[in-house]
Amino acid sequence: MKQDTLKHLAIIMDGNGRWAKERGEKRVKGHEKGAEVVREITSYCANHPTIETLTLYAFSTENWKRPKLEVEFLMQLLERWLKNELEAYQQNGVRFEAIGDMSRFSKKLQKRIVDTQEATKDNSKLTQILALNYGSRAEIVGAVNRALADGQEITEANLSHYLQTPYSDIDLLIRTSGELRISNFLLWQLSYSELYFTPTLWPNFTPSELDEIVANFEARERRFGGV
Ligand code: FPP
Repeated sequence: MKQDTLKHLAIIMDGNGRWAKERGEKRVKGHEKGAEVVREITSYCANHPTIETLTLYAFSTENWKRPKLEVEFLMQLLERWLKNELEAYQQNGVRFEAIGDMSRFSKKLQKRIVDTQEATKDNSKLTQILALNYGSRAEIVGAVNRALADGQEITEANLSHYLQTPYSDIDLLIRTSGELRISNFLLWQLSYSELYFTPTLWPNFTPSELDEIVANFEARERRFGGV
């Protein structure tokens, strides 16, 4: 059977810290370079004939455990990045979305997120979803509670509807930096995904490597439990 079309790609962007360390730089330099790579990969996906959704793990619920200064830097980088990115979103036809619990973010960052969603909502070449202060177990628990509060029966279809990401199942998950873990990312939506792990550190990841991974995906056979 020929591989289904790649519509929804998800990426765990890992290795920024190690990239910086290899160069004798501060970890935040790795995040800065990582943000540039986000731009290149988003542009690749927006121009790809079949990819409709790109979900990126930008900040996990566990990332608060990092040194305060690094967390603050990541928040500022995100705020600055969204502001600068608006033009590229409009040019590339990218609709911006965010998932996760953003209530702990500064009011300024929360406003920037909402404004960017609003400004890009009619773009249709690609939906880019940033997972921000995101944890999959919390997302599933929240979905169950919302369904129960609405008096709904808990079924697969109902739960999918109540998740923060009712967009579509994920076809392919990539994790960079050689770590072989899912790390509480989109556990429900990854049920039938193909998984690809590359040793490349995120700041070194390129559209041409992504192109090779996509070709590899297209050559795989997915049977969804059938024969
Ligand atoms: C993992 O590297 C990456 C993150 C914690 C966050 C990802 C952030 C970016 C790619 C930059 C900002 C993103 C946007 C959208 C502006 P790590 O620090 O865990 O690396 P390490 O495992 O080598 O320490």
